[in-house]
Amino acid sequence: MVNTQKFISQSIEEIKTAASTEKVVMALSGGVDSSVCAVLAARAIGDRLIPIYIDTGLMRKGETDRIRALFSDIHLQIVEAGDEFLASLKGITDPEAKRKAIGERFIRCFEREAKKQGAKCLLQGTIYPDRIESEGGIKSHHNVGGMPLHMEFSKVIEPLRDLYKDEVRDVAGALGMPKEIQHRMPFPGPGLAVRVLGEVTREKVEVIREANWIVEEELVEEYHPWQCFAALLGLGTGVKGDNRIHGWIVAIRAVNSRDGMTADPINIPFDHLTKIGSRISAEIPSVSRVVYDITAKPPATIEYE
Ligand code: XMP
Repeated sequence: MVNTQKFISQSIEEIKTAASTEKVVMALSGGVDSSVCAVLAARAIGDRLIPIYIDTGLMRKGETDRIRALFSDIHLQIVEAGDEFLASLKGITDPEAKRKAIGERFIRCFEREAKKQGAKCLLQGTIYPDRIESEGGIKSHHNVGGMPLHMEFSKVIEPLRDLYKDEVRDVAGALGMPKEIQHRMPFPGPGLAVRVLGEVTREKVEVIREANWIVEEELVEEYHPWQCFAALLGLGTGVKGDNRIHGWIVAIRAVNSRDGMTADPINIPFDHLTKIGSRISAEIPSVSRVVYDITAKPPATIEYE
């Protein structure tokens, strides 16, 4: 476990030295990693930090408004790019190809904005497990591997590169950041796209965004999971009213973990699970079946793709 105060002062110095007199851009997602980076950098270089938030259209419900409100005191650039991302994902079903398409689109949008700002340095919230999983080649990580950076940055600064998630949370606490950010569940860079099996369409994203919201509402406060969410598995038969329908199959996933490298499913009382299932199928008419994922990591990953 790192000494958080020492870590904070060292990182501020590191950012100051690396940035020198340059402007620094970063992609701010609103998760704990990028938020901690933003606060450290704002303390180090003030207005020379330019955080860019890209709304990929694959974010959770209300996310963009939340970020806008949380970072109202720093000069956040918000880029609305949902249509662009959906167009890039059209027809792609292979999970790795989906990740690559999103990674590439993300970097194109980011480059476009960063160029406008004339920044020479890039700040990234990469943490230790991100590096390990990407180096291991298991799958391309949105915020490290597989990102074709065409822009010339004279420096890439990664102050959190040696920290585990719980250490980042400790740093967030020591920086006095809101509890809401400190204890925020990890959310993958490719967003809801990795929670939709197969091709991503607007309809599927809308369904899973709503289901995700219900799962979070039901489980976050009560169980404080490492992560809980909903995933869209595909279509199956169901009955609604007098009709046999083809409806969406939604999986609920809730796991505990220390660092995301391994995870265990949470033992949620059956009555609560059935209540969540009923809510999802009642509030989202196109859903006909809800299942609970009982798999640990390994053998499963936490996300579905
Ligand atoms: P998996 O699914 O590999 O996920 O068991 C482990 C942890 O990493 C998160 N995750 C990502 N985070 N970019 C990220 O920033 C990504 O591409 C990505 N993929 C998975 C996942 O939510 C879990 O916490």
